[in-house]
Amino acid sequence: MKVQVDRREGLTAATDAVASGVFERGEKDDSFPRTLAREDDAVQGHLKAAWQRKEVKGKRKELTVLHRPDGKGRIVLVGLGPRGRYEAETARRAAAEVVRALKGKGARTLAFRLSSFAVDRVDAETAAQALVDGAVLGGYEFVKYKATTEGGVEETTLHLGEELSREEAGVKKAVAEEFDVADAVLWARNLQNLPADTATPERLAEEARALGKELGLKVTVFDEAKLKEMGCGGILAVGGGSVHPPRMIVVEYPGGARRGRTVAVVGKGITFDSGGISIKPAPQMSNMKFDKSGAVAVLGILRAAATLKVAPKVVGVLCCAENLPSGSAYRPGDVVRSFNGKTIEVLNTDAEGRVVLSDGLGYVVQQYRPDEVIDLATLTGAQVVALGDDMGGLVANDERLAQGLLAAAAATGEPLWRMPLTDYHRELVKSDVGDVRNSVEIPLAGMLTASAFLENFVGTTPWAHLDIAGPAYTTLSTKKYQPAYQNLGGVAFGVRLVTRYLRDLVRTS
Ligand code: BES
Ligand code: MN
Ligand code: ZN
Repeated sequence: MKVQVDRREGLTAATDAVASGVFERGEKDDSFPRTLAREDDAVQGHLKAAWQRKEVKGKRKELTVLHRPDGKGRIVLVGLGPRGRYEAETARRAAAEVVRALKGKGARTLAFRLSSFAVDRVDAETAAQALVDGAVLGGYEFVKYKATTEGGVEETTLHLGEELSREEAGVKKAVAEEFDVADAVLWARNLQNLPADTATPERLAEEARALGKELGLKVTVFDEAKLKEMGCGGILAVGGGSVHPPRMIVVEYPGGARRGRTVAVVGKGITFDSGGISIKPAPQMSNMKFDKSGAVAVLGILRAAATLKVAPKVVGVLCCAENLPSGSAYRPGDVVRSFNGKTIEVLNTDAEGRVVLSDGLGYVVQQYRPDEVIDLATLTGAQVVALGDDMGGLVANDERLAQGLLAAAAATGEPLWRMPLTDYHRELVKSDVGDVRNSVEIPLAGMLTASAFLENFVGTTPWAHLDIAGPAYTTLSTKKYQPAYQNLGGVAFGVRLVTRYLRDLVRTS
């Protein structure tokens, strides 16, 4: 989708649809909003009539489509709910609802009247960014394997009009930047949605190399031989059962500032998680092509960070393997040595994410001495049980990093909830035969014991762990409860949130 900014009034442009936001009408106040006078004129008073009939109430998700008698396209009113609760996320969802509703209806061009979304606490730039997110992400569908697709909106224009004409420069810059982020999200979604027969560890390495070439990033791929030499026993063990060999992929963005921070971003890249010898029951296996979501998010973050030229240096590490049972697979009872020298007692081959991450975390903290490390992983079913499928779990050993990520989460509508990590959880992952064990016999606080395990591999580096098992993808049964900008399948959760964090670092460090 193309996105642009136009100084003119939205209703004077010849687009297939013009969308405006409308707040929910108060209990007593039934008067027709003056801000919709232009829309009402365009449809010769039919909007006011619809308002008076209570056909338009302004409730969230309410859409009203009126055709202009002059044949110049449609007027779309999207409900924003009560004005007192209006925030950027409301606009993000509303824009996606409009784009979704216009899909397959012959509307190629869409205009938003920005002034109807830049209201109260939501300034023009924030509103514009939310509309870009909503329109671009809401228009996404994974169509690679479909013979035919319904056409949708191809061009979105944000109209400033007289009210916002002075904001032009700021809005244009905000829109251009947010478009790059949203575009990185779509790119990541396309990769995340590839099935496991196609998105093998080597394929992820190829994608990383292509990305590096496009954006001038240094990309290093460690194959099995090299991983063996390095002592990455975790990735090798997990990948041992598959004919598609494991890879550790490192992508480096050098940073925009001369003496900025170095942020390491590490992702779990299990291209398929069958559980291995501790095999999963069929229903729990059906979505496990999405077990690479963390690693794919890392690539998306690198794409956005490099395109936007964020200040900090960013080192992405993808820990990629396919977890399958076979004669060469690792087994329960095996003891493997991770990159940092610690030994891992494998009690359950289905707790493989933490095993591959141990090498990636250990490697990046030793090799790059980053100021902070963030990992993203579809790590535990316990995260989904605890927090549901709309937010990620956050565990961090550093207050500033945790607060920074929570602020970025709130700003982007990719929610996180912080969870504790205590000595109790640390005690639970101690092993009788090695240093740590990868699972605990009592199924309690699974997200937190997984975090306690990971902590062994970051040393004293400020670290945040994002368990995104729930929000990484939607299914047919969960999609209907999600905001309209989340598609069916992989949604690239974490890309917007971590990119926001990296963009804001320049202000906090
Ligand atoms: N990839 C799964 C976690 C998962 C579950 C992601 C559901 C998305 C949706 C992970 O590798 C796993 O199997 N974890 C086990 C760990 C257990 C064996 C200690 C789990 O959570 O059951
Ligand atoms: Mn597993
Ligand atoms: Zn897994």
